[in-house]
Amino acid sequence: MIGVGEVLISEERIQQRIQEMADRISEDYAGKDVVLVGVLKGAFMLMSDLARKIDLPLEFDFMAVSSYGSATMTSGVVRILKDLDYEITGRHVLLVEDIIDSGLTLNYLLKYLNGRKPASLEVCALLRKSGIQQVDLDVRYEGFEIPAQFVIGYGLDHDQLYRNLPYIAFLDEKHKS
Ligand code: IMP
Ligand code: MG
Repeated sequence: MIGVGEVLISEERIQQRIQEMADRISEDYAGKDVVLVGVLKGAFMLMSDLARKIDLPLEFDFMAVSSYGSATMTSGVVRILKDLDYEITGRHVLLVEDIIDSGLTLNYLLKYLNGRKPASLEVCALLRKSGIQQVDLDVRYEGFEIPAQFVIGYGLDHDQLYRNLPYIAFLDEKHKS
């Protein structure tokens, strides 16, 4: 059995950091209408908490993607499972992501969304694994830089479990069968 390991980022620190990001976003986009685009499923919790802390009129859209590859390795080939519901041409788009690992998913999504000619396109990601991105990414709003290990909680899963934890933790693989 795999279980929940050591807590890396507490619920309190996550909420505090999201408030800081939300304050910056509210300032940076003052007077503008923003479309938040969440990447399912991982970003659902960040999207929900972030949106409630942003003091701007917001629209919401979601995409669902899956990257081909094994459970803990990404291949860079991204399959779109659910596309946007609305046009983003001429809109200020903020892409909300849970975690940047290799960066390949985000890189693909940014190219895809840029192709739809938004007025602006920026990224808000809660986590970025340190030093392992395979592509150069410009992430305007970044929550935490973390060690390049597998983490769970706050939207992030292992085999579809643990997304509901309000904190970020390592996987406890001690009891792995
Ligand atoms: P990337 O394309 O390698 O940057 O990562 C793509 C996706 O893999 C992320 O959006 C997550 O859904 C998932 N992922 C990457 N690292 C982790 C992790 O440590 N825990 C859970 N999911 C992860
Ligand atoms: Mg994701």
